[in-house]
Amino acid sequence: MTMKSNNKDQQGIGIASTYLNFFHAQHLFNFFGHILVFFCGIVIGITLTFSIKKFSFNFQFQDPSFSSNPPPHFPPTPPISSNISNPSNNLTKIPINQNNLVITNTTPPISSKISNPSNNLTKISINQNSLVITNTTNPSSNGLEEFLKIPMAMHNMNEDELFWRATLIPMIHKPPFKQTPKVAFMFLTKGAVLLAPLWEKFFKGNEGLYSIYIHPNPSFDETVYDQNSIFHGRRIPSKEVKWGENSMIEAERRLLANALLDFSNQRFVLLSEACIPLFNFSTIYNYLMNSKKTFIEANDIVSAVGRGRYNYKMKPLIELSQWRKGSQWFQIDRNLALHIVSDNLYFSVFKKFCNPPCYSDEHYLPTLVSIKFWKTNSNRTLTWVDWSKGGAHPAKFIRPHVTIDFLERLRFGSTCEYNGKTTNVCHLFARKFTPHALDRLLRFAPKLMQFN
Ligand SMILES: *[C@@H]1O[C@H](CO)[C@@H](O)[C@H](O)[C@H]1NC(C)=O
Ligand SMILES: *[C@@H]1O[C@H](CO)[C@@H](O)[C@H](O)[C@H]1NC(C)=O
Ligand SMILES: *[C@@H]1O[C@H](CO)[C@@H](O)[C@H](O)[C@H]1NC(C)=O
Ligand SMILES: *[C@@H]1O[C@H](CO)[C@@H](O)[C@H](O)[C@H]1NC(C)=O
Ligand SMILES: *[C@@H]1O[C@H](CO)[C@@H](O)[C@H](O)[C@H]1NC(C)=O
Ligand SMILES: *[C@@H]1O[C@H](CO)[C@@H](O)[C@H](O)[C@H]1NC(C)=O
Repeated sequence: MTMKSNNKDQQGIGIASTYLNFFHAQHLFNFFGHILVFFCGIVIGITLTFSIKKFSFNFQFQDPSFSSNPPPHFPPTPPISSNISNPSNNLTKIPINQNNLVITNTTPPISSKISNPSNNLTKISINQNSLVITNTTNPSSNGLEEFLKIPMAMHNMNEDELFWRATLIPMIHKPPFKQTPKVAFMFLTKGAVLLAPLWEKFFKGNEGLYSIYIHPNPSFDETVYDQNSIFHGRRIPSKEVKWGENSMIEAERRLLANALLDFSNQRFVLLSEACIPLFNFSTIYNYLMNSKKTFIEANDIVSAVGRGRYNYKMKPLIELSQWRKGSQWFQIDRNLALHIVSDNLYFSVFKKFCNPPCYSDEHYLPTLVSIKFWKTNSNRTLTWVDWSKGGAHPAKFIRPHVTIDFLERLRFGSTCEYNGKTTNVCHLFARKFTPHALDRLLRFAPKLMQFN
C-alpha cells in the first residue's frame, strides 16, 4: 500500500515537476508582462500628467475672462428691504444700514482693502469679514441740510405733527450756518388776495427776504394764481373759518405754525386780502427787523364791547383786570409766534368761554400777551384801519377815496413810540381796500412809496 502509494507519489512528483517547469515558463512570461504593463503605465501616467498640467496651465493663462473679468453669473440680488435675513445660509449675513449694504462673511476671516477711486459715488471696502458698499451720494449724509429743508407750503402733516415740528427750538441760539432773516407775510383770506398786483410790485426784487403763506377757504380754487405769481404754491393746508369764532384763531395759529417751519422767518405779519402796504419793502423790512417790541394791539376798554365781553368763569386764569381788546392784525417776532402756537392753556379757556358775542380774534392775543408777554409788546398794531364810521366792520375804501393826500395821511398822520423814540411812522399796512381801488393804488404807490 505504501509502495503503491510511493509510486503514486513518484509519479506524482514527475507530473509535478513537469507542471513546475511549465509553471516557471508561465510565471516568467507573466512577470515580463507585468513589467511591460507597469512601464506602459508609467509612460502613460507621465504623459497624462504632463498633458493635464499643460491643459490646466493653458486654461489658467489663456482664458482672459477668468483673470480680468468677474464671473459672469452672480447669485440673484436679494430684494432690498430693511430686514433681510438669510437663515438657510449660515455663511453670509446681509444687513442694510442707512447708507451701507454690508455683506458679512461669518466663516473664514479675510483681510484686504478694495478702494474704487474712479467712482466717487460708491465706496467699496472690505473689513475683517465684511464687504461694505457705501453710497456716498445719499443726501441724508448731510443731516443738517436735511433738517433745514423747508417743507412744501402744501405739506401732508396733520396738525399735531405740524404744531410739534413748528415749536422745536434750539437751545443754542447762534446757528452754525449763514442765515438771512426773513419776514413771513401771512394772508388770512376767504379767496384770492384781492390786491395781488400791488403786492407783486411790492415784493419784486426782494427775493430771499420774505416768505408768503396763504390760508384761504378750503374750497378756494388757487388756479387764479398763474405759475409766475408770487402767490403760486403758497397756500397752506387750511380749514373753514367763521367770522368772529374761534376758528379764526385756529387759522392764525395754523399760519404761524406753517411759517415757523422755516427757521429763517424771524418776523410774522398777519394780513387780510384787503390789506395794502404803505411803504416800500426795505422800509417795512427794516422797521420790523430792528424793532425791540412786538405789535399786538391791546387796550383796556371799560365799555360793553370791552370788559363787557369778559366771562367770570375764566377766573382765576384770567382776571377782569387782565382782559384786553385789540385788532386782530399783528406783527410779531419768532419768540412770541412760538408761544402762541404752543399755548393750549389760555386758548382752551377762550374756546370754552369766549364765543359770539365775545369775539376771540379781538381778545385772545391781546389778553394773552398782556398777561405773559407785555414787557416786549408795544400794545399797538402797525395796520391802519378806520373805525370812525362805527358798526361791526371798519370802513372800506374804494376808488375815489384813494388820493395822494389820503395815502400820505395813513403813512405819516399820527405819532407813536418806536424803540424809545417818538416817530410819525406808526402804520406800515392799511385796510380795507377793495379791488376797485387797485388801479389808483397801482398808479400812485410806486412813486409815493418808492417801490423799486
Ligand atoms: C422682517 O422680519 C420679521 C420677523 O423676522 C418678519 O415677520 C417680516 O415679514 C420681515 N419683513 C420683511 C420686509 O422682510
Ligand atoms: C446653520 O446653523 C445651524 C445652527 O447654528 C445648523 O443647525 C445648520 O445646520 C446650519 N446650516 C448650514 C447650511 O450650515
Ligand atoms: C471725484 O472727486 C474728485 C475730487 O474729490 C473730483 O475732481 C471728480 O470730479 C469726482 N468724480 C466724479 C465722477 O464725481
Ligand atoms: C445713491 O443715493 C442716491 C440718492 O439717494 C440715489 O439717487 C442713487 O441712485 C444711489 N446710488 C446707488 C448706486 O445706489
Ligand atoms: C402794554 O400793556 C401792558 C399791560 O397793560 C402794560 O403793562 C405795559 O406797560 C404796556 N406797554 C406799553 C409800551 O405801553
Ligand atoms: C424805500 O423808501 C425809502 C423812503 O421811504 C427810500 O429811502 C429807499 O431808498 C426806498 N428803497 C428802495 C429799495 O427803493
